[in-house]
Amino acid sequence: MKFDKSDVLKALSTVDDPDLKQDLVSLNMIKDVEVFSDAVKFTVVLTTPACPLKELIKKDCTEAIHEHLDKNLDVEIHMTSNVTTARENTPVLPDVKNIIAIASGKGGVGKSTTTANLAVALAKTGAKVGVIDADIFGPSMPTMFNCEGEQPGVKNVNGKNIIQPLEQYGVKLISIGFLAPADNAVVWRGPMASSALKQFMTDTDWGELDYMLIDLPPGTSDIHLTLVQTVPVTGAVIVTTPQKVALADARKGLNMFRQPQINVPVLGIVENMSYFTPEELPDNKYYIFGQGGGLNLSEKYDVPLLGEIPIVQSIRESGDNGFPAVMKEGITADAFTDLAETLARQVAIRNASKEKTKPVEIKTV
Ligand SMILES: Nc1ncnc2c1ncn2[C@@H]1O[C@H](COP(=O)(O)OP(=O)(O)OP(=O)(O)O)[C@@H](O)[C@H]1O
Ligand SMILES: [Mg+2]
Repeated sequence: MKFDKSDVLKALSTVDDPDLKQDLVSLNMIKDVEVFSDAVKFTVVLTTPACPLKELIKKDCTEAIHEHLDKNLDVEIHMTSNVTTARENTPVLPDVKNIIAIASGKGGVGKSTTTANLAVALAKTGAKVGVIDADIFGPSMPTMFNCEGEQPGVKNVNGKNIIQPLEQYGVKLISIGFLAPADNAVVWRGPMASSALKQFMTDTDWGELDYMLIDLPPGTSDIHLTLVQTVPVTGAVIVTTPQKVALADARKGLNMFRQPQINVPVLGIVENMSYFTPEELPDNKYYIFGQGGGLNLSEKYDVPLLGEIPIVQSIRESGDNGFPAVMKEGITADAFTDLAETLARQVAIRNASKEKTKPVEIKTV
């Protein structure tokens, strides 16, 4: 049987991306097709290096070639990725593809823990990742990334001072904790805090990033407004714990992003501290804060439940020691790795299905 590149593309146009529900050829995900007498070679460009469906897509492609062309063909597939984006070309952070706000209603539910672990998990897949610690009044990132007391560099570019983010565990990082003594941060006035956050976006050398995670303070504040006014936010992740009081606050956080004048898509909910488990007996689960709250919330608001993270002593210890839990093997690393993959999928789905994000214009605050 004789065939050429267009036959290969025709065969591959029967394979759908399971998340985007469109075929790989229309999605422009097939590149570099080569045809030999007994083999075909091509590249599949995934929407994220954190794609958990890599093996499934590879298998579907091989089967399609065998079915539509020749079952004896050798199929060589190179899997690569190019993270997608859906943002307006605005001047601030122009080379950052996806800006993701990590928010909650209530304090202490695990936003910073989630941010640190997601960032490291995404960087481990090969993605370019940055973190802005936007909790100006109570920065956690210096501790969680074990770089307390370090100072970012400052470069003079055309007469303007540009901050160089630190880099730790493959993640670029900036926090007010690097610039002001921790004890002073609490006395900052609101407008100063907002202008500090703005500087982290406008006067910092982030370069190209696939994902920038913003660790927000609890609740809804000026900081949130400053963020959505300064840059186009791809989406928000809402962190909650299972208790009623936390869920009620999570709803407020979620509704803030969904207000028509803000209109930032909610990518999903993370239920943290879902159950307690002793690490050595992971099948023993104790639902000390109640069960199913995160799932109910996600169903009610029609957003995905991105993951359920157990309470594990080592998560707290690794946060305090500055080595995010996802760096060591075990149930906690698995939970955060799965969470990162699910988030990356939701970002890709959002980018393919919803309109571009623009910075918010708010006239009166
Ligand atoms: N799944 C977990 N298991 C054990 N400890 C956890 C877990 N998640 C968070 N913690 C611990 O709970 C405390 C609060 O977490 P974290 O600082 O991440 O919350 P936060 O939402 O960022 O808080 P804030 O609102 O003050 O910014 C930290 O000591 C952290 O190590
Ligand atoms: Mg925090």
